[in-house]
Amino acid sequence: MAQHTERTAPETKAHGGRTGGSYDFLVVANRLPVDRAEAGWKRSPGGLVTALAPIMEKSDGAWVGWVGCPDEEVEPFEHEGMTLIPVGLSASEIELYYEGFSNATLWPLYHDVIAPPEFHRAWWDAYRRVNERFAVAVLARAAEGATVWIQDYQLQLVPAILRERRPDLKIGFFNHIPFPPPEIFSQLPWRRQVLEGLLGADLVGFQRSNDARNFARSARRYTSAGGNGAHILVGPEQRSVRAEAFPISIDTQRISDLARRPEIQERARQIRHDLGDPKTIMLGVDRLDYTKGISHRLKAFEELLTEERIQVGEVTFIQVASPSRERVEHYRHLREEIEGTVGRINGAFDTLQHTAVRYLHHNYPVEEMVALYLAADVMLVTALRDGMNLVAKEYVAARFNGTGALVLSEFAGASDQLKQALLVNPHDIAGLKDTIVAAIEMPRGTASRRMKAMRRQIIVHNVEEWSATFLNRLAEVTHG
Ligand code: G6P
Repeated sequence: MAQHTERTAPETKAHGGRTGGSYDFLVVANRLPVDRAEAGWKRSPGGLVTALAPIMEKSDGAWVGWVGCPDEEVEPFEHEGMTLIPVGLSASEIELYYEGFSNATLWPLYHDVIAPPEFHRAWWDAYRRVNERFAVAVLARAAEGATVWIQDYQLQLVPAILRERRPDLKIGFFNHIPFPPPEIFSQLPWRRQVLEGLLGADLVGFQRSNDARNFARSARRYTSAGGNGAHILVGPEQRSVRAEAFPISIDTQRISDLARRPEIQERARQIRHDLGDPKTIMLGVDRLDYTKGISHRLKAFEELLTEERIQVGEVTFIQVASPSRERVEHYRHLREEIEGTVGRINGAFDTLQHTAVRYLHHNYPVEEMVALYLAADVMLVTALRDGMNLVAKEYVAARFNGTGALVLSEFAGASDQLKQALLVNPHDIAGLKDTIVAAIEMPRGTASRRMKAMRRQIIVHNVEEWSATFLNRLAEVTHG
């Protein structure tokens, strides 16, 4: 296992002239960008690490985060040129801070209360304690004047803790999920503390401008902050905080390159063949989460079959639902519900040769995902609320020959960038059904025009551009 001790990591990356162990650029996220593998660690899938790894190498950086298992004390180590600084969480902290406050309080509250958020003081106490621990890990490692970029809703209190103890730092925060309107946010018993936590940053980034506006409105309503629009003024010294939108993206080139590989195209043909060569393959790819609108999608599909607007054998629907947060109650219920629905649909409509819904509760490597994207004539993204939805962007990146139709929820942040998708309100089942049929029947020329326009968007606006834009803006607002 490529582990180094706390002392060796800084020696290899020590900042010129400083005492060992301090960094000019720190990323702080709930999870480290690696997963355990048989022989050590492997880089986790996802664009964030792809975008940040080169910046970290260039700028003497480190990543602070949790290793993903309970009760593990792992020393800082290097992985593929990045310094990783683990923060330990006990089993009880995982239950209270991660499963509880992060994923059963904040997650549903920030996603339109699709599921009812639970408010427990013991969860809040653990959230505060764990945020403090992440902040302390940063404080021990941040060089004078360093840039610290905190990621996502699990760590909203970190900016203010850093600000209070180290005013020299340049502090950015990016919220990957939606930020709710004040009318919903106000339910949170600790709303003021959370807002004050975020207001410790110089720049608070969101996926959509509406999220940024929601945050600024809540900040002015529930704290003493003032200012106008995206410019928030905090405290007696009127410190300036900006709330702006930076829509995240993917490593477009990587997905597009994989899609061009002959063996991946062959795999896509194989997938279609294994399904009995249906005329149309529809695909859904989601973490198994109640925000994703999987049951709305299944309902539309079932009704289309019942009304014989589509036929099994001609249309097959593949639903990949990757396991997620399985110890949280809502997620357990959701799994039962979805699997019950899939069973009912298949029981009613399968033939001996063909299946209606091919449901896969697995994680797949990126190569297999790209093969699925290539096999899918219609991609269904029907989230009820989603900060961005990178699956929609990955599908577009994989369709290098300009074919394929994307049905995309207007409640996913991606709909701001992928305007040529077939946009839907997933609550409107009749509208969703008509849109699915329109996607299946879309003329090649129309599909190609739409797909090419979407591809142009994500080729320019990839994840590297996203992180560069955020960090340049942070430098600008801190005069760095
Ligand atoms: C969303 C969140 C991320 C989170 C991911 C997976 O995309 O914005 O912060 O890491 O879901 O969820 P998990 O709870 O497994 O980290």
